[in-house]
Amino acid sequence: MSRGYFITFEGLDGSGKTTQLRRLATHLEAEGHKVVTLRQPGGTALGDRIRSILLDSKSEATLGPIAPAAEMSLMFADRAQAIAEVILPAINSGSILLCDRYTDSSEAYQGGGRQLGSERILSMHRAACDNLQPDLTILLLPSLEASLRRARRRNRRHTQQQGTDENRFERESDDFYRRIYQKYEEIAAREPHRVIPIRDDASIDQIQTRIRELVATRLPAPVA
Ligand code: TMP
Repeated sequence: MSRGYFITFEGLDGSGKTTQLRRLATHLEAEGHKVVTLRQPGGTALGDRIRSILLDSKSEATLGPIAPAAEMSLMFADRAQAIAEVILPAINSGSILLCDRYTDSSEAYQGGGRQLGSERILSMHRAACDNLQPDLTILLLPSLEASLRRARRRNRRHTQQQGTDENRFERESDDFYRRIYQKYEEIAAREPHRVIPIRDDASIDQIQTRIRELVATRLPAPVA
């Protein structure tokens, strides 16, 4: 059986990556591929617990302020579990694994946003994830202003409709998001073969078309 393919989606909150990932999954399934999807943090029982601690803005009322290095470590605990439970089994059984965020998010948010620096994140990635890298990363980088507007609107809606609160990150300052944006730019410049940025504010359909074309050029040819 041939090895599968590992694709991650990255970008600021509100960049549209989740919508694009879902649509790509539907398209690839229609083409006959086996597809597994996952989001980080989350996607395993342990990961879902970690997600609710890290994203709920009320967490710090009971737990106290979460130290940046603790936040980083929890992101990697989630990731190590997802690799063991979902990612490696999917890739080893020939599926296309589509992951909504991965280590680039830790480098951008904890390394850049929380100012822990890239080297700490990358060494944690070697230790916790055995340095497992995606084959392809689609980085959605519409303008910072557009992303922030969408993220804040989405979160208000989420809180009103479902009563859940995933605001801990969205409460951060514009400077925090500016540092994340810059770090994503740095990662794309450092790894141009793996990380493909899509920078403009084109429509959802137009961006999806570009993503499908890109993925089609990268997927290994089916074994006859
Ligand atoms: P999302 O599922 O809506 O993308 O939200 C996940 C949030 O968690 C988002 O604000 C980014 C943040 N995050 C990190 O700070 N570091 C990480 O390693 C990951 C995976 C997510």
